[in-house]
Amino acid sequence: MVSFTVNNTSVDISGMDDKPLLWALREDLGLPGAKYGCGIAQCGACRVLIDGESVPSCSITLGNLAGASVITIEGLSDPDNALSLVQQAWVDEQVPQCGFCQPGFIVAATALLAQNPNPTDADIDEAITNICRCGTYPRIRRAIHRAAGTISQS
Ligand code: FES
Ligand code: FES
Repeated sequence: MVSFTVNNTSVDISGMDDKPLLWALREDLGLPGAKYGCGIAQCGACRVLIDGESVPSCSITLGNLAGASVITIEGLSDPDNALSLVQQAWVDEQVPQCGFCQPGFIVAATALLAQNPNPTDADIDEAITNICRCGTYPRIRRAIHRAAGTISQS
């Protein structure tokens, strides 16, 4: 049995050590926010935070998660469902087009801002390698700068 937490709730899963986390989140835990895009750790649509790091959940299996803390897009808002600063910045900048890729971008941006509260465009481009087929990259950069500004004022 593997025990870890998802969005601060304990999870115990038996007999599925080889199952990728993304499938467990979507099929077994009722958390469809992380999306399947490529399945090979390239597009970033499935990113979640694992112990604070942005990780493609399609490419880590449950057997590697013992004791880990997993936070999904659903877990970024607070218990009263208030949006996180990054989520609010996404709304304020009206970032999404189709929206499919955006949970992964928000997770990646959250991890970046935790490490670097005031990133440059170059820092953003280097740290966030997610793919958006709709081409929302300029708005994503604006939203990250907006969130960074909010963080610096708080
Ligand atoms: S589905 Fe995981 S990185 Fe593309
Ligand atoms: S908003 Fe459509 S793929 Fe990114």
